[in-house]
Order: sequence, then structure tokens, then C-alpha cells
Amino acid sequence: MKPKVMNVVGARPNFMKIAPLMNEFKKYPDIEATLLHTGQHYDEVMSKLFFHDLGIPEPDTYLGVGSSNHGTQTGRIMIEFEKVLLQEKPDLVIVVGDVNSTIACGLVAVKQNVKLAHVEAGLRSFDRSMPEEINRVLTDQISDFLFVTEKSGEENLIKEGIDKKKIFFVGNVMIDTLRQHLKRAEISSILNKLSLRPKEFTILTLHRPSNVDDEESLSQILNALAAIQEHIKIVFPIHPRSQARLEQFGLSDKINQMPQLMITEPLGYLDFLKLMSEAKFILTDSGGIQEETTVLGTPCLTLRENTERPVTESCGTNLVIGNKADAIVRESMRILRGDFKMGRQPDLWDGKAAKRIVRILQQNLR
Ligand code: UD1
Repeated sequence: MKPKVMNVVGARPNFMKIAPLMNEFKKYPDIEATLLHTGQHYDEVMSKLFFHDLGIPEPDTYLGVGSSNHGTQTGRIMIEFEKVLLQEKPDLVIVVGDVNSTIACGLVAVKQNVKLAHVEAGLRSFDRSMPEEINRVLTDQISDFLFVTEKSGEENLIKEGIDKKKIFFVGNVMIDTLRQHLKRAEISSILNKLSLRPKEFTILTLHRPSNVDDEESLSQILNALAAIQEHIKIVFPIHPRSQARLEQFGLSDKINQMPQLMITEPLGYLDFLKLMSEAKFILTDSGGIQEETTVLGTPCLTLRENTERPVTESCGTNLVIGNKADAIVRESMRILRGDFKMGRQPDLWDGKAAKRIVRILQQNLR
């Protein structure tokens, strides 16, 4: 009997992490690899577009849980995932990243005595008010294989009492995806579509509850944008959560009064990669974008108080600046004056992380 591996995805940032793993498993006919999508993200633009852009196969199982409060969403995923697990009986479940689907499926797997692998383990913001931080800490505690992207991950896990034998420093699967698709992204026509010229625009992405669910924080950020867009165009592919909050707080008018701020729908992977590689700089509160800009060499200003990905600051092009208007404007102006640090590639972010992971799993599944 072939060992059976179930790969789990749920939300947008999971898709680029699972794609290279699914690809790599194809080279191992002695392993049966399946894909399960919880449906945490379900829209055309938040989910389907990524399967298409990244060539991810149709999921073997789709749970269709959708959006709701954290408890309800996590609970629904657990209920539905348990039914599938009881039927499919895989030997190993692989979860990636730090979303609710990650912890929900991880918890169900270990309670069924199914081995659990966590890809992108060990990252810590040390801010327990972030839902993702809780998901990271708990998933790592119950995992049998912990694959880390940077050295800090290994150190964090050891401090938390995880057995060293379970930890593998393998590099970054999201960067595997970036390197694989860079050529295809180059021919994207997104710059033309949005009437942009290389290095003459910046990109903004925002979705963290700490930035968008708090009216004062969101207002601070908008004040900064009003000042920055007088000097450079801003492209803002808007996340559904942020769109909803702007309307709820009556802030949409403020946005409409900024002629150089352009709101778009959430973009597909290739178009967004093209934009990131051609932008003068990026303003973001995303985790993954801090890593992607580091590899692309594009300056990144992170509108948060902390980062769980410290290598992007110590070695890459990232700077964590918080969400106060004066700091955002000051640091943006500095970049526009041409004053920003150069970065270098973090260790093992070489496009081969999925290869290392699958090889390790194969040896251990025998
Ligand atoms: C989730 C992840 C976050 C990740 C982010 C990327 C958790 C705890 N958070 O946050 O780590 O960085 O995804 O996007 O898992 N919505 C849609 N269509 C969709 C999905 C969501 O319209 O396909 C709307 C829903 O109204 C929902 C809101 O977006 O209420 C937020 O979605 P949700 O999945 O709850 O959390 P995210 O903020 O996306």
C-alpha cells in the first residue's frame, strides 16, 4: 500500500505554499498525494484565480465552510474535516501557514493519530492579539514535522520545548513559487491595464484586523496615503475585509478624494507579482509580501508593530514602521529620495524548499 498524504489549503496565502509541494509529489509515484480545500476563502478573486495562475490541480475534496466568526469558522472546518479524515485515513496531513484552516485541520489530524507536518513553522510575532500567532503556536505544538523558513523559526521552536529532531530548516516554499513564475509574470499586461510605468507607482495592501477593524488606525493610514499620493501613484488592490470596514466607518469618501490612489479588486498571482517587481516600493501589513519583496529587491514598508519574519528586516528590504501617519509619510519620502537599504537573499530561499520537504517526508513515511 502506498502511503497517503493529504495536503490542506484554506485561504489565499496558502495557495502559493501548497503549489510547489503538489508539483513535487508528482515526482514520487510511490506516494499518493491528495488536495483538500476547506473553502475558508471561496471567491473567484480570493481563491479560484490562484488555482488557475499557479496550475494547482482541482481539490480532491472541497469543504465549502466559508466566512464567519473565528470560533464558528474553526469549528465548522473541524467538523467537516473529521468526516473526510475518517473516510480517507491518510498517513500524513500537511498544513501550511497560519490561517484558521491550518490549526483546525491540524487538531483534527492529531486526534485521529494521523501524523502532522507544518510547513512554515516557528515564525513568531510574539503578539498574541494576532489570530495568526495563536494558530502558529498551537499548530507547532502538535506537529510531528516542523519545516522552517528561517533560522529564527528553529530558535523559537527550541525555546518552546519542541524536540530538535522534528525541526527541519528547508527554506521557503512561497519563494519556490515566486521563482517558478517570475518569467510568466513578466509578460503580464497589468501595468498597461492600470496605465502605470515601472518605478512610478507604489502598491498598498491592508487586511490585518489591527489596521482595518480599528477606525482610528485606518484613519491614520488614510491620512498618510493622502500625503503620499501627491508624490506618487498608489495602487490599492482591496481585500474584502478592508472594503467592508471603509464603508462601515464612512471613510470611502476620503479615499475618493485622492486622485492618485487607484483601488482595484484583489489581483491574481501573476499580475500582483509583476506589480511587486516593478513598484518603487510597497506599503503592506501582509506577512508573505515582506518575504516576496525581499527576494525581488523591492523596498517594503510594513505597517505593523512587529514581524514574525525577522530575516526580511535583518537581511532583506523590509522595514517595520507601525501604522502612524507621520512615520508612514516620512519613510515613504525617504524612499522617494532614493535613500533605502539594499537587501540580500536569505539562506535557502533558492526555489528548492519543496524538494527538500518531500524528500524528508518520503524517507520518514517508509
Ligand atoms: C485570512 C487569514 C489571514 C490571511 C488572510 C489573507 C485567518 C485567521 N486569517 O484573513 O491570516 O492573511 O486570510 O487574505 O485565517 N471574504 C470574501 N471572500 C472570500 C473570503 C473572505 O468576501 O473568498 C470576506 C468575508 O466577508 C470575510 C472577510 O472577507 O468576513 C474576511 O475573511 P476571513 O477569511 O475571515 O479572514 P481574512 O481577513 O481574509
